[in-house]
Amino acid sequence: MHKLALIGFGVVGQGLARILHEKHEELKKKYGFECSIVAVSDLNKGSAFKAEGLDIEKLLELAENESISQYPGAETGWDAIKTIKESGAETIVEVSYTDIETGEPAYSHFNAALEAGKHLVTTNKGPTALFFKELSELAASRGVEFRFEGTVLAGTPALNLAELCLAGNEIREIRGIMNGTTNFILTNMELGKSYEDALKEAQELGYAEAVPDADVEGWDALAKVVILSKSVMGADIGVSDVDRTGITGISIDDVEKAKKDGKRWKLIGKVTRDGDKVTASVAPTMIDITDPLAAVGGATNALTFVTDLMGEVTIVGAGAGKIETGFSLLVDLLEIDRREK
Ligand code: HSE
Repeated sequence: MHKLALIGFGVVGQGLARILHEKHEELKKKYGFECSIVAVSDLNKGSAFKAEGLDIEKLLELAENESISQYPGAETGWDAIKTIKESGAETIVEVSYTDIETGEPAYSHFNAALEAGKHLVTTNKGPTALFFKELSELAASRGVEFRFEGTVLAGTPALNLAELCLAGNEIREIRGIMNGTTNFILTNMELGKSYEDALKEAQELGYAEAVPDADVEGWDALAKVVILSKSVMGADIGVSDVDRTGITGISIDDVEKAKKDGKRWKLIGKVTRDGDKVTASVAPTMIDITDPLAAVGGATNALTFVTDLMGEVTIVGAGAGKIETGFSLLVDLLEIDRREK
């Protein structure tokens, strides 16, 4: 029985909780996987700790209507660090908000978890992009897992695809649509909507980051490019090494003109290996209508891996969403369970 503590209980944390609740029996039967959530700590929704495990349905109900701190009979008032250190959980699920400039406060949570010899599972892009090397080394030195599938394309298997399914290939390039909001905007502009209306709709649908610049100026895609550069390409690429341009300079006229020429604008994140040199960029790019990435519309994401043995392999799938991102955490938890058996 894995004991989990969740740091953050927003959309993603609740998504994982919902999956664990609904698939409890199936996961046990199919994979012999059992877990219990012993603690949750969220800056806005409160905290609850119960050594014998919290009832997930009750937790979800409290998160929606009141405060987790109202959980009957649970200890409360625990901040993230106390929860990590004192809950007795051997796996920390860190899904607090992300900050691509400092990585905080999630970076402190990551460090506390790994220092304490706990597995860390996360979808948090900021600290993973900024401190990947340090965190991987710390996890290795403590003999624990640091898994972060959901940082790139939510539960669409991007990192696991590269690590497991494409193992043995040399990956020469990864390029793709790594941000749903900007792809949604560009798709809608092609359908005749204005940039402003399309952005507003993306925000209403819940794809967009809290600060629109994170999406439209390419910061979110940049974080994913950095994570791919470091974790898949093994390159020492920092945030400031990536050439970054967002989509704010793309007009309806540009979109129309591309359409007439049999092309389509996409915000493309790219990391390319040329011998020992690895370069990375995020930029609006006009791609041919026959490119598999051109067919990917709306908030959907896609990545093309350019490999030596398999040629080009493209995956298409969700890059955000409550259940889709919650699933990325499940897949990491199942992998930890598999490795421990
Ligand atoms: N704001 C992001 C997007 C969410 O639009 O893709 C997932 O990182």
